[in-house]
Amino acid sequence: MCGIVGYVGARSVVDVVIDGLRRLEYRGYDSAGVALVYAPETGEPYLEFDKKAGKLANLEAVLDGQDRSLEAACGIGHTRWATHGVPSDRNAHPHLSADGRISLIHNGIIENFGQLRVELEASGIEFLSDTDTEVAAHLLGREYAVDGDLTEAMTRVCARLEGAFTLLAVAADDPDTVVGARRNSPLVVGLGDGEYFLASDVAAFIAYTTEAIELGQDQIVTINRENGITVRGFDGQPSEGKPFSVDWDIAAAEKGGFETFMAKEIHEQPQAVADTLRGRIDETGQIVLDEVRMSDQDFRDIDKVFIVACGTSYHAGLVTKYAIEHWTRIPCEVELASEFRYRDPVLDRSTLVVVISQSGETMDTLMALRHAKDQKARVLAISNTVGSTIPRESDAVLYTRAGIEVAVASTKAFLTQLAACYLVGLHLAQVRGIKYADEVSAILDELVAAPGKIAKVIENLEPIRQMARDLAAAEDGAARVLFIGRHVGYPVALEGALKLKELAYLHAEGFAAGELKHGPISLIEDGTPVVAIVPSPRGRSLLHDKIISNIQEVKARGAKVIAICEEGDAITASHADFTVETPASPTLLAPLLTTVPLQEFAIELAMALGRDIDQPRNLAKSVTVE
Ligand code: F6R
Repeated sequence: MCGIVGYVGARSVVDVVIDGLRRLEYRGYDSAGVALVYAPETGEPYLEFDKKAGKLANLEAVLDGQDRSLEAACGIGHTRWATHGVPSDRNAHPHLSADGRISLIHNGIIENFGQLRVELEASGIEFLSDTDTEVAAHLLGREYAVDGDLTEAMTRVCARLEGAFTLLAVAADDPDTVVGARRNSPLVVGLGDGEYFLASDVAAFIAYTTEAIELGQDQIVTINRENGITVRGFDGQPSEGKPFSVDWDIAAAEKGGFETFMAKEIHEQPQAVADTLRGRIDETGQIVLDEVRMSDQDFRDIDKVFIVACGTSYHAGLVTKYAIEHWTRIPCEVELASEFRYRDPVLDRSTLVVVISQSGETMDTLMALRHAKDQKARVLAISNTVGSTIPRESDAVLYTRAGIEVAVASTKAFLTQLAACYLVGLHLAQVRGIKYADEVSAILDELVAAPGKIAKVIENLEPIRQMARDLAAAEDGAARVLFIGRHVGYPVALEGALKLKELAYLHAEGFAAGELKHGPISLIEDGTPVVAIVPSPRGRSLLHDKIISNIQEVKARGAKVIAICEEGDAITASHADFTVETPASPTLLAPLLTTVPLQEFAIELAMALGRDIDQPRNLAKSVTVE
């Protein structure tokens, strides 16, 4: 939520900052702004800022018209997902201190801003925006006036703030310094050759360096052209971050010939799943987690699993429940992270909480994780982002290797989460001795075959694209789309509906197919499209028969049925209006295949309706507020 960039170095500061914002724009795109500090050879240094409501392109248009004969010495930039105050020029960041000497940007929510605003207004300060951020700018201006030391001033300001925040600030008379601070909100440092970057995530600077430093909770970082990087705690004590190297390359952050990032990311799924599986089995056939601060005995002691996540990651959790309970016979519950701690779930040392988060920064999930740890539960994270908060605070971690996912709607992250979750389920089964080695290796063989099958699904997407285009063209044809499934097909139905809602802005709902007759079937009218996720007719024939009955029920009421089914499934073909076939797969692993046509259906329908595919309205990629 909100993208933040800061830079000190010899490159064109405005170019680096804007380039970083472009790569972070998926985090929020309600407005954008920059503050640049200039150090002319003669005369005093000075600060300039520009900010504009709407996408980054609006800001770029303003900057393009400006004289660039003098390069800035340092700068900060912000792309916003609005929390306090509507998206507008005046609410866009940066915000200035009352004396105009300090410029500040913020990601997060300052919870005690109301009380601080009253205090500042009482001292005569006039506010120019409706944001919570502006209090921090004024406080920083007031503290900076005391001793002219931006780091000291930031330390004193952080002591007064409550909530979640990443702050970056520059001062008009200190052109070589950017100061950042973080609490419950992401901030990483990029380490170049004589140049330093601060950003919400590494995507902002991987074009320039792959060396980074991960900051801890409640830390302040100063990047200075002469002195490099210094880190201290909010208590003012010297501290340090944890260095790491980024293995994403810059090509991952480009569209690579595709019209949208989402299309590219759909096509990257076979590779992303293969990468996530690669090297995860050691020579003795044991599954290897990345970071484990739990013993095998801890895993053996587990008597209950909770999976906690949001949105698409939650859907990955729903699929995993079926696999974990089947493979390990441990009860497994799946919870929306935003509800978890308020429900006061029963947790103890023998509970394993699996948190799934692509970004590793989702605030709802982070708060659920902390609640679980407070209750002494063990926490295992599945995340795509090395150096992010959720893996860092967990007892064990398995990273997905999807690479950067830029499109706001998650695709390859979902498939890699599934792959990682299957590995966790098998790991639990192995450690607890529930499955024999040959049983585990048979499932692993199927998993390893999945990328090839996903590639086959991708090669055969044109029929579903055509259906999406036809629906978009038909008058009222896609006003409402229902998705139905059973067993692991049910979470796939939820995911298909979520993709369509977020991309096409249509009414789409996912249902457990058996639930239709308990109410939702009244939504069906003549011509209502119903997408049915049909399980394999082999092995689980009972499930297959049941969903065929559900297809008949909706068809009897006028629905137009699009069935996603296994290749050669003649029974489904004889009942559905259209079929999209996927290669044969064990039922539990089928979501790796059946989700893909639904992603393509959503993107194609949304494109036909002229929607913004990579940046759907009202959304942001990384949701760092509760
Ligand atoms: C939907 C989507 C979101 C995320 C959710 C959790 O396409 O991307 O629903 O899945 O916001 O995000 P992470 O996984 O980063 O915690």
